[in-house]
Amino acid sequence: MSPPALAVHNLVKQFAGTAAVDNVSFSLAENEFFTLLGPSGCGKTTTLRCVAGLEQADAGEIRIREQVVFSGRDGVHVPTNHRPIGMVFQSYAVWPHMTVFENIAYPLRVRGRPRSRINDRVAQVLQILDMPGMASRMPSQLSGGQQQRVALGRALAMNPAVLLLDEPLSNLDAKLRESMRAELQLVQRTTGLPILYVTHDQVEAMALSDRIAVMSGGRVLQIAEPEAIYERPSNRFVLDFIGAVNYLPSVVLERSGERLCLRAEDGTPLTVQTGSALESGRELLMAVRPEDLRLEPEGTPCCLPGTVALRSFLGNALEFRVHCHKTSFRVQTEKERPFQVGDRVALRLHRGLFLAHDDKVVGIWHDLENNLVHG
Ligand SMILES: Nc1ncnc2c1ncn2[C@@H]1O[C@H](COP(=O)(O)OP(=O)(O)OP(=O)(O)O)[C@@H](O)[C@H]1O
Ligand SMILES: [Mg+2]
Repeated sequence: MSPPALAVHNLVKQFAGTAAVDNVSFSLAENEFFTLLGPSGCGKTTTLRCVAGLEQADAGEIRIREQVVFSGRDGVHVPTNHRPIGMVFQSYAVWPHMTVFENIAYPLRVRGRPRSRINDRVAQVLQILDMPGMASRMPSQLSGGQQQRVALGRALAMNPAVLLLDEPLSNLDAKLRESMRAELQLVQRTTGLPILYVTHDQVEAMALSDRIAVMSGGRVLQIAEPEAIYERPSNRFVLDFIGAVNYLPSVVLERSGERLCLRAEDGTPLTVQTGSALESGRELLMAVRPEDLRLEPEGTPCCLPGTVALRSFLGNALEFRVHCHKTSFRVQTEKERPFQVGDRVALRLHRGLFLAHDDKVVGIWHDLENNLVHG
């Protein structure tokens, strides 16, 4: 296996005695799009700045293509301009008084590259960015998205070993953000550059990334592919942060084979299929995503009875709020469901997760049967 493009090991960075980055480890393969995802203040930017050398960490190690650029133990701290990185930050980092050409050429020029090499490289970069014929424009003659592409171009100019991008799309409007997302993916595919990306937007993270590290309070909670983060989160924080979820408190009554009998908090007996070993008497939260619920006509077997309290048209789907005894469920279904506010319905719980008291995910369940309706 080839060595990682970037390896961060047990990184710690404190501000005034508080750890902004608390023992963070991850690594990027060549070609990989890797995202640090988490709420405001969780330590994403600080991690990125440590990788860039803009912040000096307190402990740990950072390697870029095998080269140690930071080591707390050995006292190594390679300055930013000697690290083989390209960076783009949230605010447009283009110089307003320079043309597109001069902006992209800047890092090559300050390193004294010959004129002909600079011309060739800028032409290459403009081609990667799909910005032909724009070399002599001033930034004021470009759209926000084009300006951000120029910033990306300047980061690409030196042909870095890794690209560091900190919320580069957050200044753009929703529509432009989406098209820039696709462009970023294309640029990555064309150049093969590994990208360390930072965002608090879980949709953006899932759309772009090969793998995601979910962060909270300076720590990495889970590293996995987007599907795994969404379908098999390791704990409640990741489950909540990555998408909407409903919770149903319950207690385990007994198991027979793959079938587990539980009692919901309102007393409703439930039976689900699960491979997880969960002993009787154990209190659990059953978690289910809005799209893993189905609305059926009242009286349908193996469902929870409920009443439609709210109905919202989302364009590509319908969202319902359904009250079932003590619990209110958020349900997302295809547009054709004919239910209206006030209708008595039956709620089919397709699949979900079991959470323990400590918020860890301890199992997966599917195919709820409701013994009451079932008879
Ligand atoms: N220079 C600094 N001095 C003191 N505290 C700092 C400094 N930089 C960051 N912090 C603190 O470190 C923590 C992590 O900040 P950081 O900027 O890494 O968060 P973030 O995940 O990038 O958040 P956001 O999504 O808002 O950009 C925060 O509590 C922040 O207040
Ligand atoms: Mg930040």
